[in-house]
Amino acid sequence: MKKRRVKASRRSRRRYGMMLFLSLVVVGMIVTLMQRPFSQTTTLTADPDNAGHVAIGQAVYARSCANCHGPNLEGQPRWKQPLPTGGYPAPPHDATGHTWHHPDALLFKITKYGGQASAPRGFRSNMPPFQDVLTDEEIWAVLAYIKSRWPAAVRDKQQQMSMKAR
Ligand code: HEC
Repeated sequence: MKKRRVKASRRSRRRYGMMLFLSLVVVGMIVTLMQRPFSQTTTLTADPDNAGHVAIGQAVYARSCANCHGPNLEGQPRWKQPLPTGGYPAPPHDATGHTWHHPDALLFKITKYGGQASAPRGFRSNMPPFQDVLTDEEIWAVLAYIKSRWPAAVRDKQQQMSMKAR
């Protein structure tokens, strides 16, 4: 009688340990799954409605982009005409350019790795890479700033494109 009770309690202790282990595994899985979309929305988007990101982006723009793309995002003169030295001048980033024709992921790639990395074969790009100059967060911030300067309709269109491209 006594022996049996000891055995039973040992068995239930083992069962308890197993359940504890399984619930830890489940909790671990839930935490991992929850963290993924979180980190994507906080660091991997250019959010023009985030005033903090836009402010950082404005400073980055003035420092790193304005000399080519123009202090007011207006681009260089005659940006549609090829240069005698090859490639094109810097296009505007406002609504008159074609920056907004591209999804966020491509804008990020062009800024980080330079235009050449995404250009068709034979095209010479004059857009330099910023991977050694800016952090990923700074790149998302400068894109947030650029997007904040677009009219709502343009912003919506580009947003839809970005969602589809994911
Ligand atoms: C040295 C001049 C120069 C600087 C500085 C520069 N760019 Fe550019 N950028 C260009 C040129 C030129 C192009 C046109 C495309 C090409 O030649 O590949 C371009 C194109 C782009 C494009 C693609 C636009 C499109 O419509 O396809 C993006 C996005 C871009 N630049 C972002 C930036 C950002 C953000 C910065 C600052 C962090 C920056 N650029 C700084 C020269 C520059």
